[in-house]
Amino acid sequence: MTDLQRQTWEHRFASRAQNINASEIRDLFALLGNSDIISFAGGFPDANLFALPQFRYGYQKLLEDSPAIALQYCASEGYLPLRRWIADFMRRQGVDCSPDNILITSGAQQAIEFLSRLFLDKGDPLAVSKPSYLGALQIFNAYEPDYHFFDGDGISIASPGADKTRPLKLIYANPDFSNPTGETMDGTARRRLIDLARANDAPLIEDGAYRSLRYEGDPHPTIMQLDIADCGSIETSLVVYCGSFSKTMTPGLRIGWICAASQLINKLTLLKQSSDLNSSTINQMVMHCVADEMFDASVNISREVYRQRRDNLIRALEDHMPDNVNWKKPEGGMFVWLTLPKGIDARTLLAKAIAVEKVAFVPGRPFHADGSGGNTLRLCFSSCPLDLATEGVTRLARLIAAETAELHAMA
Ligand SMILES: Cc1ncc(COP(=O)(O)O)c(C=O)c1O
Repeated sequence: MTDLQRQTWEHRFASRAQNINASEIRDLFALLGNSDIISFAGGFPDANLFALPQFRYGYQKLLEDSPAIALQYCASEGYLPLRRWIADFMRRQGVDCSPDNILITSGAQQAIEFLSRLFLDKGDPLAVSKPSYLGALQIFNAYEPDYHFFDGDGISIASPGADKTRPLKLIYANPDFSNPTGETMDGTARRRLIDLARANDAPLIEDGAYRSLRYEGDPHPTIMQLDIADCGSIETSLVVYCGSFSKTMTPGLRIGWICAASQLINKLTLLKQSSDLNSSTINQMVMHCVADEMFDASVNISREVYRQRRDNLIRALEDHMPDNVNWKKPEGGMFVWLTLPKGIDARTLLAKAIAVEKVAFVPGRPFHADGSGGNTLRLCFSSCPLDLATEGVTRLARLIAAETAELHAMA
């Protein structure tokens, strides 16, 4: 063994660990501490909107009244009153279910990880949108799937190299105000995905992380609701809904959930047991108290603040961006997706944006499982105050205009 081998770890890792790489998003989290930089990067909720007095009161009260429960292990499927609350929330989303259909997870991220572990063998066909939530792709990559793609209308698109002869094993969609594009699938697109799931007998993960953050218009039914309307019961539905309190209440407590057929929940509970036994008991109890008291009121305030930020960002883009940059106004969520002229690479642009203009965003390529999308980028508007956002767009527009001029000069 060489000295170099002794110092490095790579050769000791299992082969699947080779697909676990640094995330551009996580790397950018570090920038948030740098007050010089205007950041449109991390998809964070605004910390000023967290219900601090209610969380503080909740922890204090639980530690005074029921410390032996709050500080103890709890059932792997989760704290029953919280599962009841979530079942009620899901019923308000049109999904007829009971607490037996709910598993509490450490965020929606853990939900996606469990579902990947449960359904994906190496080389299994997996259909995702292009682009897709980067955090989900990071999980999927570790399971080495054969990627197939669909667009925002739920229509299958070119998937170079994918084996079309094998049925899909799993489908992943983020239909409401998607991360990263901010787009929402309409009823037809949702039905296409249900048809795809049925034709392949493949479970369909519906990631509803941003669903509550709608700023205008009427919500589309969840894919799960549409599927249950066809098949008659959640127990026969192929849709597995992943929810989260991260974007509505706080990501700090790490509480999300899976809503699915009870048989699947039983199996996932075993996975949860072997993974971390249970999500933090006291965090589940506090989340239950706070959500029960003020979920709707809290989300209404977030909606109002984020709607203003979205409108402000769109106005700034309209006022300052060169004509060759495209975007769509999202109906909700936290993101606006920019398409730059071909020839401008957003990763290279980011390095200049940080160094020269002191503004940050997330380049689009890592959201594409096939490595395309070099001329796209994501702007997150949720945690950037109005005046800073306007200034940030002005700087970014200036940089893109300069890059475009340079491109033309070279042509
Ligand atoms: C689409 C989507 N799904 C899931 C998650 C994970 O959320 P959490 O694990 O905080 O619930 C995120 C986080 O940004 C997301 O954007």
